[in-house]
Amino acid sequence: MAYTEQQFIEHVREAFASSRDARLQAQTIADRLRELFATGWPLSSEKLGKENGTYLIHADTERGHPDPGFMVMAYRQGPKKAAPPSPHDHGACFVVYGVAAGSNLQTRYRWTYGEDSTQPPVLEKTQDILQKPGDAAYFLPGEIHSTQGSTEEETIYVRVTSQDLDGAWRHRYHLGDNKTTVFRSATQPQTPV
Ligand SMILES: [Fe+2]
Repeated sequence: MAYTEQQFIEHVREAFASSRDARLQAQTIADRLRELFATGWPLSSEKLGKENGTYLIHADTERGHPDPGFMVMAYRQGPKKAAPPSPHDHGACFVVYGVAAGSNLQTRYRWTYGEDSTQPPVLEKTQDILQKPGDAAYFLPGEIHSTQGSTEEETIYVRVTSQDLDGAWRHRYHLGDNKTTVFRSATQPQTPV
């Protein structure tokens, strides 16, 4: 029998229950998510609507990282206007991002410090990953990334957040002037977070 949404959620719960290692948890979840995508999910899910929007697949009350409350959400969005990147982190949480249709360009950044420690660091782009259908990738606690959905076609993507990000303090990073701002929201910045 094909791998099901319910089995996936049980496996995510087990990943949190069996380890406190965020990297290992994220790897396990991403591996399972690829397996679930291979079955045609989330298009096969009764929880995914036909309209553009955010669809809650599962909100857990017992498991998560670092505190309970992991969430599985599916998103359906039309072609997305190319927007300036909005780098952000997920605080002490991690996020697994997967794509089922269309694409998501994921960009990673890091602070680069010079030898002279009196000088401020510069936020530099380190990697672009173009996520295509069936792909899943994770961003660990503190990692900085930005996302750009396909500008040409509908994108259906999934996020597993290790807690409800509405309750998590995290940061947004401004390229160019190296400013950082702190915020607490699951939906800001407006580009897919
Ligand atoms: Fe994000």
